[in-house]
Amino acid sequence: MIDLEKQNELLKLAAEARDRSYSPYSHYAVGAALLTKDGVVYQGCNIENASYTPTVCAERSAFFKAIFDGVREFTAIAVIGSGESPAYPCGVCRQVMAEFCDGDFAVITSNCDGSCVIAETLDQIMPHRFGPKDLL
Ligand code: THU
Repeated sequence: MIDLEKQNELLKLAAEARDRSYSPYSHYAVGAALLTKDGVVYQGCNIENASYTPTVCAERSAFFKAIFDGVREFTAIAVIGSGESPAYPCGVCRQVMAEFCDGDFAVITSNCDGSCVIAETLDQIMPHRFGPKDLL
């Protein structure tokens, strides 16, 4: 797990990223801040589409930015939505985490105003997952 100060910093960056959300269909804005093992933070937001299926979640937009930059080792992600409940990563985003992250990867979720923050690990939110090791 990461310390509280780093957690709060990531949540702040996730909230900043949420302001970039393009979500005219769901009106549910999400921001993410992904911390690499080198200490760099990649931000992402959800980007929706009139055709719906091309929509990408905030978490994946952050991961894909990092992976494009050649970074593949991650420590934590903070996710903040615009709803009353903490914004938990969807199943597809969890599967992307399973591809690149260890079980102790920290997943910090927050509701809209930060009054409810939950810190868990990938092992906790996605036990018994299928991943790269299964194809060795
Ligand atoms: N969304 C995310 O950005 N992350 C998640 O893990 C769950 C869902 C977005 C996708 C879509 O733009 C909106 O939230 C409603 O599903």
